[in-house]
Amino acid sequence: MALLPIIKYPDPRLHKVAKPVAAVTQQTRKLIKDMSETMYAAPGIGLAATQIDVHEQIVVIDVSETHDELRVFINPVILELDGVEESEEGCLSVPGIYETVKRANRVKVQALNENGETFQLEADGLLAVCIQHEIDHLQGKVFVEHLSHLKQTRIRAKLKKQRRETL
Ligand code: NI
Repeated sequence: MALLPIIKYPDPRLHKVAKPVAAVTQQTRKLIKDMSETMYAAPGIGLAATQIDVHEQIVVIDVSETHDELRVFINPVILELDGVEESEEGCLSVPGIYETVKRANRVKVQALNENGETFQLEADGLLAVCIQHEIDHLQGKVFVEHLSHLKQTRIRAKLKKQRRETL
């Protein structure tokens, strides 16, 4: 089992834009395995490769309570967004911070799976929110960047204080 270190906001590496995966290989599948183990151990419901400092378009998600519905999205593209929903989000790169974000409540996404096969998925609710949150990561965007500048400043100060207290 390989747990990968998760980079924390406001680390500038979280703002790198991920490149598409050219070919899904054994190495990609090894990375996906490590990413999902890292996500489950955290514990979290989603992880983008950006968060482990790999700037390729790979996302793992499992929003099930039983942690046995792993979904893999390689080179994901959002085809449709519909509706509006506000929900509370958190992020493994922004520990201890939960804030309400407005997003679409239905999403249609196309991606490759771990075997390099194209699939489409229509999602709503928590899964739809999670897909948008993780695809944001691949584009170099952290969820707190949907919030006001004042809130972002407060969150950065709070995280700085947390880090000082854990040293
Ligand atoms: Ni996140």
